[in-house]
Amino acid sequence: MCTITSTDQYKELLSHPVYRNERILLLGGGSNILFTKDFDGLVIKVEIKGMTIIDEDYERVLLKVNAGEAWHDLVIYCINNNWGGVENLSLIPGTTGAAPIQNIGAYGVEIKDVIEEVQVIDVSSGKIISFTREECCFGYRQSIFKEELKEKYFISSITLSLTKKNHRISINYGAIQDMLHQQNVVDVNIKSISDAVISIRKNKLPDPLLIGNAGSFFKNPTISYNQYLSIKNINPTMPYYTTENQNVKIPAGWLIEQCGWKGKRINNIGVHQHQALVLVNYGDGNGEEIFQLSQDIASSVKEKFGVTLTTEVNIL
Ligand code: EPU
Repeated sequence: MCTITSTDQYKELLSHPVYRNERILLLGGGSNILFTKDFDGLVIKVEIKGMTIIDEDYERVLLKVNAGEAWHDLVIYCINNNWGGVENLSLIPGTTGAAPIQNIGAYGVEIKDVIEEVQVIDVSSGKIISFTREECCFGYRQSIFKEELKEKYFISSITLSLTKKNHRISINYGAIQDMLHQQNVVDVNIKSISDAVISIRKNKLPDPLLIGNAGSFFKNPTISYNQYLSIKNINPTMPYYTTENQNVKIPAGWLIEQCGWKGKRINNIGVHQHQALVLVNYGDGNGEEIFQLSQDIASSVKEKFGVTLTTEVNIL
């Protein structure tokens, strides 16, 4: 394993005879990956730092951010400068370079909403290429870098388009409204939204520095309207989100909780007590055990509700 702090260092590695034919795994913060075994090849941790304003006017700023910057540090930097667009994405672990791969999202906002461009490096040639937002094919926890182009490119920097005034405030999400109310916020601005999101996340989600976890382990499944009706019939209080195409998205955390998994501990691993979508490692558990637990959870959700869960975390 090695770290790189510049794109030139990557090119140097590529030209080195020892590494030229190695399989390569690019790591950001490592906060959305589960190792079930060792990786047979070269692990490169991307620590390319730096941010530059590449253009701005009265209303917007275009900020280029290198891949190795911690995502949350970037969010705080934007809030301190009164640049809007990423405040709902506060306290998400991981690096900026990893963020577009799964189109990180929380509380009604996804990174695709602010991305102007993504700069990548061709893993095999070291050549730098740019992708526009459209070319990234973003979807729910999805992008071209997680699908067709998986392992072909790694992200070296991203360019964000942020607002300097008339910020697009997004507080439709019930949990944000509740928290703003609880914190007696009268002046809703990007700072108060960020503070509210930080409080919600701290209450619900375990800090990966204290308890090993990779955030939501599964994606929220999308089911047909008919399937939704038949589950809703038996479970009238089931939460749901409507999608654009007549389908319905169901919170996987709710499905998992209904199957009795929430807070369950099996030796050194388990299901988080405040959010059933998060699997945790209390210390000495290993990746294989976590993977087995995830399969057991998915089987019981399938059996009880007929719904298939797919993983959000990258499993290696
Ligand atoms: N719920 C339960 N039981 C649980 C967990 C959730 O009943 O154990 C219910 C909640 O009561 C609520 C609904 O499910 O009605 C949704 O819960 P929550 O607001 O916690 O959000 P989520 O759908 O479980 C998603 C993202 C999170 C993101 C939050 C907020 C996915 C896979 N996860 O979780 O993202 O922070 O919304 O927007 O879409 C991540 O990707 O790692 C992540 C944490």
